[in-house]
Amino acid sequence: MQPGVRVVCAGRNKHMTPRQNDVLARHFTQVHASRGVGKCRALHASHPVDPPLPRRGPQALVEPSTGLELVAHGSTFAGARLDAGTRLLLSTASDWRAGDAVDVGSGNGVLAAVLARQGRTVTAVDVSRAAVASTAETLRRNGLDGRVTVLLADGIDSLPDRSAGLVVTNPPFHVGAAKDSTATLQLIQQSHRVLRDGGELWCVYNTHLPYLEAARRAFGRARIVVQDRGFIVLCASR
Ligand SMILES: C[S@@+](CC[C@H](N)C(=O)[O-])C[C@H]1O[C@@H](n2cnc3c(N)ncnc32)[C@H](O)[C@@H]1O
Repeated sequence: MQPGVRVVCAGRNKHMTPRQNDVLARHFTQVHASRGVGKCRALHASHPVDPPLPRRGPQALVEPSTGLELVAHGSTFAGARLDAGTRLLLSTASDWRAGDAVDVGSGNGVLAAVLARQGRTVTAVDVSRAAVASTAETLRRNGLDGRVTVLLADGIDSLPDRSAGLVVTNPPFHVGAAKDSTATLQLIQQSHRVLRDGGELWCVYNTHLPYLEAARRAFGRARIVVQDRGFIVLCASR
């Protein structure tokens, strides 16, 4: 609020209560009622209170179901919280194939952290600088940074053929502000290239999206492992 703002509210006496002064006093340091004119009076409020300081630094919260401290810079997806789709994907974590892993679209780093906590070597990739910083800080705060390479990259084109045992992802569904499946359809194809024989892609997505068919096209076969009202988790084996 600008420092010079003044508010004047006029009304019939029968519609005015001291509570209205209290509400204005939360936001203005000077509040007073005028003398009445007929059956009406006015409330005057001026000198706004100082606004709260802007929040500095990243958000950080301990996520109860994983016990991980999650960190989110800027507009990182889901902030420092666990997304509902990611939660469903994590419910399958004990079924993920053993070995080194890639987390594509790592966001606040929760999947990379769970993979690292399983004792794996992990590559975490995100196209967003804020997300990469968030992933790195989540890993550092949970003592897992030694196991994870965090990359700022668009997709996993830069990873060599047949170099990973597992790809785990809650993939992007936006390009900028627009909903767009293109990046994920490419990611499914890229995962097939990056996985070794026997390697697995685990992916969670909104139920209306066509990723099961895309995974079947790329891998030959893919199955739904678990589904709820909003999300599907699929697994495709190379
Ligand atoms: C749905 S969020 C999932 C974030 C995190 N893994 C989680 O489960 O909360 C998808 C993430 O993909 C990232 N992303 C979008 N396009 C990408 C691309 N082309 N390559 C890599 N990451 C991308 C976004 O920045 C975002 O962090």
